[in-house]
Amino acid sequence: MSELVPRKRIMVVDDQAAHLKALCDILGQHEFDAIGFATGELALAQLRDHRYDLLLTDMIMPGMNGLSLIEAARALDSTIACIIMTGEGTVDTAVKAMKIGAFDYIIKPFKAATLLPVLARALDSRQLRSQNLRLEAALRDRIDELGRVNLFLETARKEAERTSCEKSAFLSNMSHELRTPLNSILGFAQILASDKYPKAEGERQRFCQNIVSSGRHLLQLVNEMLDLSKIESGKVSLMVGAVMLDEVLREVQAIVAPLAEKRLIALAMPADCKLELCVDRMRLKQILVNLLSNAIKYNHVHGSVTVHCSVARGGQGCIAVSDSGIGLNPEQMEAIFLPFGRAGRDESGEEGTGLGLTITKRLVEAMRGSISVESTPGEGSTFRIELPLQGAVASMPGARVPFQHAS
Ligand SMILES: Nc1ncnc2c1ncn2[C@@H]1O[C@H](COP(=O)(O)OP(=O)(O)O)[C@@H](O)[C@H]1O
Ligand SMILES: [Mg+2]
Repeated sequence: MSELVPRKRIMVVDDQAAHLKALCDILGQHEFDAIGFATGELALAQLRDHRYDLLLTDMIMPGMNGLSLIEAARALDSTIACIIMTGEGTVDTAVKAMKIGAFDYIIKPFKAATLLPVLARALDSRQLRSQNLRLEAALRDRIDELGRVNLFLETARKEAERTSCEKSAFLSNMSHELRTPLNSILGFAQILASDKYPKAEGERQRFCQNIVSSGRHLLQLVNEMLDLSKIESGKVSLMVGAVMLDEVLREVQAIVAPLAEKRLIALAMPADCKLELCVDRMRLKQILVNLLSNAIKYNHVHGSVTVHCSVARGGQGCIAVSDSGIGLNPEQMEAIFLPFGRAGRDESGEEGTGLGLTITKRLVEAMRGSISVESTPGEGSTFRIELPLQGAVASMPGARVPFQHAS
C-alpha cells in the first residue's frame, strides 16, 4: 500500500485573472492544491486562518504589492516559502523581496518547466526550515530540562555539603567529648601508678572515684553515640504498636523517683491517663526518662516536676513535662536539640552528654511525632511531645476534649 502524501498547498496571487487561472490549472495538474487570489489583501486575510506551504505572488498589484504581502505573510508564518513573479523592469525590487525573506523570483512570462523546479527547491527549503525550527524547539526543551536537572543537582550538592559539615562538626565535638573523660582517667591512673607521689588513703579513694565516674561518663557517651548513629543510619527497627501510656508512665516514675527524692523535688504524674498511643513501648520509655531526668536535673532543690497528658488539637496524644527549674533562653533553646548541645551547662557541674535531647527528638520524629519546648529563664520549662494515638482514646467520650491530671 502506498503512503498517502498530502498535496502541497500553494497560494497564487495575481491581479490578472487569466494569468491567475492558467497558473492554478497548471499547478493543479502537477499534484498541487493551488488556490488563487486577485489581491494581496484577500490573500493575507486567508493566510490568517489557513496554512499554506508556498506563496507565489505577483510583484505589482493594485493595493498591497507583492513585497508587502511577503512581509506580512512571513510575519504570520516564518516558514512559508515565498516566490515573487516579476517583469524584466522590476528585477531590482525582486532582489529586495529576497532580502526580506522571499526564497526566489521568477521573471514573467515563464513556462511551467521553469517554474516547477523553483517551486520544488522552495518547498524543500521550507521543509528544512520547519525541521530546523522543530529541532530548535526540542533543543530549547532539552536546555530547560537540563536547567531543571542542574538545579536539582545543585540542591542535592548543597544538602550533601550541609550533611557533611554537620558530620564533621559532630566528629570534632565527639572527639573532644571523648578526650575529656579519657584524659581524666589517664591522669589519675598515672598519679596512682607513680611511686614518687605519696598518697594518703582518702586521696587515693578520691582519685579512684574520679576514674570510676569518668569511666561511667565515657561509657554513657559511647552508648548514646552508638544509639544515635544507629537511629540516624535507619538501622533501628521500631516495634510500633498499641501502648497504654499510664503503664509506661508508672514504670518511668519508678526509675526517676529516686533522683527526684535526692533533690527533694515533688514529682506529679497524671492520676488517670487513658491515652493509648501507637508507638514503640521501649523507645517511649527512653524518651520519657530523658525528659523527666532533665526536668529533675536542671531544677532547684525543692522544685517541682509535673506531667500532663491530653489529646492535642491535631488529634495526637500529647505529653507535657513541666518543671520549675532554671529554664532556657531563646538562644539556648535553639542549641539543645543539636548533638552535644548542652547550653553552657558543662561548667554548672551537672553531668551530661548533650545527646539525650538529640536522641529524643530523632525517636519522636521516627514515630511520626513532634517535640517542642517553651521556657522562661529562672521560672522553668515545658517539653511537649505529640505522638500518634492508637484509634480512639479508650473509654473517653469526646476524644478531642483535653483531659489532664496532676495529682
Ligand atoms: N528541663 C530543662 N530545663 C533546663 N534546661 C534543660 C532542660 N532539659 C534540657 N536542658 C538543657 O538542654 C541541654 C541538652 O539536654 P540533653 O540533650 O538531655 O543533654 P544532657 O542532659 O546530657 O546535658 C542540657 O545540657 C541542658 O542545658
Ligand atoms: Mg539529658
